[in-house]
Formats: sequence, structure tokens, C-alpha cells
Amino acid sequence: MRILVTGGAGYVGSHTCLELLEAGYDVTVVDNLSNSHHAALERVAELAGKPLASHAVDLCDAAALGRIFERDPIHAVVHCAGLKAVGESVAVPLEYYANNVSGTVSLCRTMGNLGVRRLVFSSSCTVYGNPERVPLTENCKLAPVNPYGHSKRMIEQILEDLHHSDPTWSITILRYFNPVGAHVSGLIGEDPAGLPNNLFPYLAQVAIGKLPELRIYGKDYPTPDGTGVRDYLHVVDVARAHISALEPPETVSGIRIYNLGTGRGTSVLEALHAFEKASGREIPHSVVGRRAGDIAAAYADPSKARVELGWATERALAEMCTDMWHWQVKNPNGYR
Ligand code: WQD
Repeated sequence: MRILVTGGAGYVGSHTCLELLEAGYDVTVVDNLSNSHHAALERVAELAGKPLASHAVDLCDAAALGRIFERDPIHAVVHCAGLKAVGESVAVPLEYYANNVSGTVSLCRTMGNLGVRRLVFSSSCTVYGNPERVPLTENCKLAPVNPYGHSKRMIEQILEDLHHSDPTWSITILRYFNPVGAHVSGLIGEDPAGLPNNLFPYLAQVAIGKLPELRIYGKDYPTPDGTGVRDYLHVVDVARAHISALEPPETVSGIRIYNLGTGRGTSVLEALHAFEKASGREIPHSVVGRRAGDIAAAYADPSKARVELGWATERALAEMCTDMWHWQVKNPNGYR
């Protein structure tokens, strides 16, 4: 069976392509390479020992997208393509709505027209906004607080409306918490353009000496050590969830939503110390003011995915740090 992966050259996308190939699927990637590198796909094929098809096409190019679907029979789509930097989304919201929302509408139109109605969508815990309580379950209040989170919630609503209009659609929505780390080979990993927005790539670049210190955004939150708490999970565990989402044999239609997390919160300081231990490097740091839009704590209740998908994380924080460090050391300039 062939799976089409949008954004397959990206961080989660490339790890998902590798898991799909290793699970015996054929893979076609559609990626406009605006925020990723074709080199990632070459390395995925090398690791899997199998080729994958890829097309540098924008999802909004309906004609080109249709030709890809007509070329090879597609069993299902894993939709990872999207812009995902919270800060950037505040600065250029229209880019996020055009890319994330319009791109998804174009994809779903093409799928429906060509009779492909199985979709796994990469959503995000950012749809919860500032949590009313933790751990977060799937029925917690949705209150995104930035255009990135709004775009993900809009897409979830679009998919719910699509399923309501045509119940033959089989849609699985995966709300990622904080994917971090890299494949154990160190050949694929997170390659942020410019200065990293997210904590883990920043830690890795400080540890290797590319950046002078980590600025901790606030140490006055109502958390055990005052720093922000998140649910970091290994990107390979995230990738494996997509395999679980594709496989329930009895799932012929319906719409399902799952939180993907470890169920444990980790503070910035805990992550920093874990990374120092994994890298053997001291990580200079200082405490500065809070970052606009940040929340104190968010972590998942992943029990629904465990019960219904048979999925749970298998890799602990230490392994996330070790694998991230291995990628950083082997690829000091990412894929460039
Ligand atoms: C984590 C903590 C910061 C950088 C994520 C990503 C993405 C999304 C979930 C899927 C916070 C602190 C960070 C730094 C710091 N998943 N920090 N100094 O904000 O939870 O956003 O949401 O879409 O994974 O968008 O992750 O890594 O930016 O921040 O102190 O230089 O680290 O304040 O407490 P965040 P992050």
C-alpha cells in the first residue's frame, strides 16, 4: 500500500516516512521544500534501504497535486506539511493561514475528487492554548492563543465538517505535544532555519558552542522550579503513532482525535540538566523575562491513544537528549 506524506522532508515528516518504509508501506512525499531539505529524503531512503517517490509541489497547486494522485494509487495521506513557529505566526499570520489552512483545503478537495478518503493529520497541543487543567485530555477546552494554534484548530474544524458532510472519510487527528530528539542513526533530525525558536535545538547549539548561552524565559511560573513545563516526546515515538493511526483494520470511517505525549511534564531546567548529562557539556544559561505567548505548563493525558491505538511513548528524556546530541554532533550545520 502507498501512503502520501505531505511535508515528508520536514522534521516529523521525514521520521514518519522512515517508519512507514520500515513497516512495509510504499511512500510518496509532497513537499514544497520551503522549510525543509531534499537531503532528508535521500537519507531516509538510505536508512530504509528502499526508494521513495518525492515531488517538490505546493499543496495549493491543485493541478500538480492531482497528477501525483493519478500517477500512483494512494491508500491514505499523512498530512504533516505546515508552518509551525509560534512567534513567526504572530508576525505573519496570513502566511500561516494561506499555507496551513488553504493548503489543507486544496489537499482534501483533491483527495475527495480522486476517492482517497483516509487522512492522518498532524495537529498540535497548541490548540488548547493556556490549559484550564493538566494533564490535558482530548475533550479539554480548545482556546488557541496564536495564529499557529488557530490554524491547527481551524483545520481540525474543517476536517470535522468534511466528515460530517461525507461520513465515508476516515480521519485521525494527532495532537503532538513537544517532539524532540532525532533518529538513533544521527542521519535525520531537526534542522531549524536560523536561530532556533524551540528549546531543544537551542540547547544542542549551546552545547556544541554555536550559541553562547541559553536564555531561560522566566523562572517565576507556578511550577516546581519556576520554569516552563512541557511534555517532550521523542520524534520517533511521534512517527510510530502515525503507523498506529493507519492500521486499525476495523476503522473504515469516522473521525478520531488523540493527544501524543508522555503524560509527564519536564521543566526547562530539568531539560537543560538532562542535556548536559547526555552531551557531557556544560550549558551556560541565564534567566530573562517571560516570552510573550508562553504558558506555564502543558502536558498530555495520553491514555486515549494507548487504549484505542495501542500507542505509547517508549523513549525517555535521556534518550531524547542523547539522540538530539548525536544528530547535532554529526550535522553541525544541519542538512546544509
Ligand atoms: C519550551 C519551553 C519556553 C526556548 C511548542 C512548539 C511545537 C509544538 C508544541 C507541535 C518554554 C522555554 C524555549 C528558549 C526557553 N508542537 N524556552 N528558552 O513554546 O511549547 O512550543 O509547542 O506543533 O513543539 O511550537 O516549545 O521549545 O519553544 O519552549 O526558556 O530559548 O522552553 O519558555 O517554557 P513551546 P519551545
